Amino acid sequence: MKICAVILAAGSGRRMELDTNKVFIKFEEQSAVIRCLKTFGATELFSDIIVACKAQERDIVKRKIEKYIGGGETVMICDGGAERQYSVRNALEFVPGDADIVVVHDAARCFVTERIIRDCVSSAIRHGSGVAAVKATDTIKRAKKGVVTETLPREELVCVQTPQAFRADLLKQAYQKAEQDGFLGTDDASLVERLGKKVHVVTGSPDNIKLTTRKDVDHGRQIVRNQESSDLRIGNGFDMHQFAQGRKLVLGGVTIPSDIGLDGHSDADVLVHAIMDALLGAARLGDIGGLFPDTDPQYKDIYSIDLLRGIGDLLRKYGYKIINIDSTIIMQKPKVSAYREQMMDNIAAALDMTREYVNVKATTTEYLGAVGRGEGAAAQAVCILQKQRR
Ligand code: CTP
Ligand code: MG
Repeated sequence: MKICAVILAAGSGRRMELDTNKVFIKFEEQSAVIRCLKTFGATELFSDIIVACKAQERDIVKRKIEKYIGGGETVMICDGGAERQYSVRNALEFVPGDADIVVVHDAARCFVTERIIRDCVSSAIRHGSGVAAVKATDTIKRAKKGVVTETLPREELVCVQTPQAFRADLLKQAYQKAEQDGFLGTDDASLVERLGKKVHVVTGSPDNIKLTTRKDVDHGRQIVRNQESSDLRIGNGFDMHQFAQGRKLVLGGVTIPSDIGLDGHSDADVLVHAIMDALLGAARLGDIGGLFPDTDPQYKDIYSIDLLRGIGDLLRKYGYKIINIDSTIIMQKPKVSAYREQMMDNIAAALDMTREYVNVKATTTEYLGAVGRGEGAAAQAVCILQKQRR
C-alpha cells in the first residue's frame, strides 16, 4: 500500500494581515508547515509528501525541510497555483503513478493530530474516502440580501476540515473532471462528490483549526499548550534476581557492602532493570530482555546504569521526556536506606534529568515469600513520559 500526502502552503494568507505567509507562523519554535510535516511523518504511513508552495517561497520551504525533516519519506516541493484547487492539481502531477491513497491537507491546519490523519487514511482504504469534519454547533441559515431564505437542519450539518484522504485514482479523476467542467471548489471532497461518489466523513477535532485570522494565532498557542501537556504515557516495570555467593550487590548503580550479591548476566541491578522496563513500557519500545539479551556476551557483568543511559538516549530520539520515576526495592536485607540518595543521583544523572523527579524507596516483605526468606531481591518502578512534538 502506497500512501502519499499533499501539503498545501501556497496561499497568501491575506486575511491574516501579516507580512509573511501564515504557514510560517511559529508555535513553540516550529512553523505551521513544518508542524504539519512532522505530524504526517510521525504516523510513518507516507512514502511521499508533496508540499505546494509559492515559487518565491520555495527556498525558505526547502531550507526548513532540510533542517527539520529527516524521516523515511520522500519530501518534494512543487509550485502552487492561483487558487487552492490549482495548487492541488499541480501537486497531483508529482504523486507517483502507483500510489493507492492521496491525503490532501492545508498547511494552515497545523494542529492536526496523528489520530485524525490515521482515521482519514483508514477510511480511504476501506471506503475510498475519509474527510475530517466536526458536527456543526451553530444553526446555519441561507440568507440573500440580508434576508433568511432557509434554515438548514443542524443535525445533518458538519464543518469540513482537512485532511481529506481519497483513493488516488478517484481524486485524480475528480480533478480531471473539475478541470474539464471549469468547476472551482473550496475543498477536495466537493470535486469527488461531483463524480457521484460517496464521500465518507471521519471525526476531526475542534482543535484542528485553520489559521485564518489573527485571533486564530492566540487560539493556536492555547491548543499547542494543551496538546503538549496532554500526551502523557505511564509505564511500569518489575524485576527479581536471586542471591548468589561471590557476587557484588549493585542497586541503583551503588555497590552495597554485603557478603552476597544478586546473580545475573549483567550486574543484576534489579532496581535499574525495573526502571528501564517501566521507561520502555511507557514508550512501547519493548523490554530490556529484547533490547539487551542475556545471551549476548557484550552485556556480561555490564554496569546497568550504562544501559539506563542508553535508554535515556533512545527515549530522546523517539521524542519522549521523562516526567518522573518512582521505584521500590523489595529486599529483606541488607538495609539500603543509607544508599538511597546516591542511587537517585546515579539514576537522574544517567537519564539527564532533575533529581527531584526520581524517587527510590525500599521495603521488606516481613519475612514472607522468597524475598522474605532472603533468597533474592525484587524491584518495581513506575514512570510517566511525555511525548514531545519536536
Ligand atoms: N493554498 C494553496 N494555494 C492557494 C491558496 C491556498 O496552497 N492558491 C493553501 C494555503 O496555504 C492554506 C490552505 O490552502 O494552507 C487553505 O487556504 P486558506 O486558508 O484560504 O489560505 P490562504 O489562501 O493563504 O489565506 P487567505 O485566503 O486569507 O489569503
Ligand atoms: Mg484562500
